[in-house]
Amino acid sequence: MSGPPTARLPRSRRSLRTRLLVAFVVPLVVVLGLVGIASVTALRSELLSQVDTRLDAVSDRSRDYSAQPGDALPPKPPYDGDEEGEPGGLGARGQGEGTLVATVVDGVCTSSGVLGAKGQTVALTTAQKAALVDLPVGGEPVTADLGGDLGEYRLVAGTAPNGDVLVNGLPLGGTADAVRRLVAVELVVGLIALAAAALAAVLVIRRTLRPLDRVAATATRVSELPLATGEVQLAERVPPEDTDPRTEVGQVGTALNRMLDHVEGSLAARQESETQVRQFVADASHELRTPLASIRGYAELVRRQRAEVPGDVGHAMRRVESEALRMSELVEELLLLARLDAGRELTTEEVDLTALVVDAVSDAHAAGPAHRWQVDLPDAPVLVPGDPARVHQVLANLLANVRSHTPDGTTATTRLRAEGGWAVLQVVDDGPGIPAALRPHVFERFARGDASRSRTAGSTGLGLAIVHAVVSAHGGTVEVASEPGRTAFTVRLPHASEG
Ligand SMILES: Nc1ncnc2c1ncn2[C@@H]1O[C@H](COP(=O)(O)OP(=O)(O)O)[C@@H](O)[C@H]1O
Ligand SMILES: [Mg+2]
Repeated sequence: MSGPPTARLPRSRRSLRTRLLVAFVVPLVVVLGLVGIASVTALRSELLSQVDTRLDAVSDRSRDYSAQPGDALPPKPPYDGDEEGEPGGLGARGQGEGTLVATVVDGVCTSSGVLGAKGQTVALTTAQKAALVDLPVGGEPVTADLGGDLGEYRLVAGTAPNGDVLVNGLPLGGTADAVRRLVAVELVVGLIALAAAALAAVLVIRRTLRPLDRVAATATRVSELPLATGEVQLAERVPPEDTDPRTEVGQVGTALNRMLDHVEGSLAARQESETQVRQFVADASHELRTPLASIRGYAELVRRQRAEVPGDVGHAMRRVESEALRMSELVEELLLLARLDAGRELTTEEVDLTALVVDAVSDAHAAGPAHRWQVDLPDAPVLVPGDPARVHQVLANLLANVRSHTPDGTTATTRLRAEGGWAVLQVVDDGPGIPAALRPHVFERFARGDASRSRTAGSTGLGLAIVHAVVSAHGGTVEVASEPGRTAFTVRLPHASEG
């Protein structure tokens, strides 16, 4: 991927709460804005048309005034400009404060003035006069900014009876004020309304989504339960108030509860069938012990009377005996595994690993004198809580493997140390190693290497499975590292005390 990561989250990654709030607030802002703009525009054009109507009347009065003969005229208002530029029209009856009258002759403003607050005429500045000279004569009123004290004016130019151009104007200050006031009121009221609506939306959304949180919390708790093995108690359910099928969240809650029912049912079924299989294997192994013992007994009996049986029968009986022995071992191992699986069969007492290593290695030495057996023990005894017979079997299985799966002369070192909270037991040999294809599976049941490489036919493929099961039942771990010339099995057991 190229380019810098974008700071904005993609829409779909924002929370549902935010998205609902945005979906509610944005259209509200747009609607409020449109209503505001429409009302301001309507008010403005209404006020302008009112001003235009009044401006019509002002124009009529100015024109009538200039049409009257001099002596009939009412007195002119007092004027602060020079006598020359004093406009007529402002003296007409009915002209209001702010009324502008000007006469334009040949593009030059000859007279102009605005009616002041006290009825006096106020002269225009040169710039203001300049704004009056090019108005379209006889056209519609136009808006112009005259600046200074006058501000915006509505102006219209007409023709006086004497042919001059007569400009009349009315101030738009009132209109602008009214519009400004409306805008201010709309802004304040709109913002308050928006804030109130957003607050209400936040509260409603939070209330509405709270059941969803509870459903999610239930799902999370279930997801944290260890469901993979063993007896599972699946007591978690979505609370009844969140399972009303008339609501969307209720539907999710109902579906989740139904799914949990199914999961619980199938877990119970799995557990039951596992228990049954285990029980069956345990029962079958147990039942096989007695007939196997009889077979061995009879075979041994025949062997003892070697003189009386023909040679090939004797050979056959020896084979029967050794195979029966092998089968007895297999049956014992199966029985032990089934019992370990069921979580039974372990006592807990203090096991002195140091003594156990010494015993097991000397047993191995007796059974396999052609191998070189070495021990590497710490000075202080290492104690672990556990079942002495089973822990002994772990070590015996590992040493038996060296004996059966490595050639004569191989050196096997059994090492023991206490490390942190662990007792670490290691069996290292310099034999040919575990075949690469088998390495990932050595601890699985009935996993064994090429039979031709094994020195004895007594291979069952259960030895390391038992090691793994026993170590796990003790809360420990077992690992293997193997390459030609070095195979190391490392067993870690939780450590009780040192010394
Ligand atoms: N120390 C070892 N050196 C070489 N191969 C080994 C060693 N330990 C175990 N193996 C291989 O792992 C396989 C599984 O061992 P295990 O579970 O004890 O079964 P089994 O000993 O009955 O064959 C063996 O068949 C053998 O191929
Ligand atoms: Mg073995």
